[in-house]
Amino acid sequence: MTNQSSVWAKALETKAFINEQLPDFKPSIAIVLGSGLGRFARRIDVVKTIPYSEIPHFKATSVEGHAGNLIFGNLAGRQVICQQGRYHFYEGHAIQDTIFPIRVMRTLGVETLVVTNAAGGIHLDYRKGDIMLIEDQINFQGTNPLMGANPPEFGPRFPDMTHAFDPEYRARMLTVADQLAIELKRGVYISVTGPSYETPAEIRMFRGWGADAVGMSTANEVIAANHCGIRVVGLSCISNEAAGITDEKLSHDDVGDVVEQMSERLENLVEAWVKGL
Ligand code: 6GU
Repeated sequence: MTNQSSVWAKALETKAFINEQLPDFKPSIAIVLGSGLGRFARRIDVVKTIPYSEIPHFKATSVEGHAGNLIFGNLAGRQVICQQGRYHFYEGHAIQDTIFPIRVMRTLGVETLVVTNAAGGIHLDYRKGDIMLIEDQINFQGTNPLMGANPPEFGPRFPDMTHAFDPEYRARMLTVADQLAIELKRGVYISVTGPSYETPAEIRMFRGWGADAVGMSTANEVIAANHCGIRVVGLSCISNEAAGITDEKLSHDDVGDVVEQMSERLENLVEAWVKGL
């Protein structure tokens, strides 16, 4: 799907397929679940689950710990669409394909995007098990998902990224966290391609740049959402300290285990936040 001129048409085809399956469903909120957070689905009063393999123009996902489903249902009395499993650049997808679901969400009428991920803690005060409210991001994937011809139906050629993570949304997440007595860190997420984890030298460099947590996702979706006028709030589950901070080796299995243990806290936060929208 690197031919950008047809992306709008493809998104409309996918929207038509979804509308056919769910004629009365008009979600205004979308949630993207990161590694180990698939169980968030238990909070949703599910109307329908559609595997990516059945959705026109959706690619298959390949990562362990990431199911590939769109879940439609009600959360805190609101209609939501939930991406259980996302596309990562390191899987070999074209960078433009990693954001196709966000574009479909736009055609469905989504105005609010909640992004979640697992991330390594770069900030020396962060510990495994912390949740970080993403205040801003650094896209360090060496490319941009909006590369290529701009489909003007979605947004401008040169989208502004000053408020990539909506200030009002962020403020309300802090309030909700306070009410639930959940401690929230606040920081900058840096997105790298992976799939190798970083070296200690890379992590020191990122810290110098002002990054507080590192992961292999999210930035593309946030760029795509900003491009098409969707407001974003984001949370990172700090699954481990990044390379060189402790002597522990990094493993994807450990990341998944820690995040699964954190899932309930994150679910409480997101549900309460959606409830107040
Ligand atoms: Cl330390 N690095 C990256 N790139 N992704 C991660 C991570 C680290 N920990 C969880 N996800």
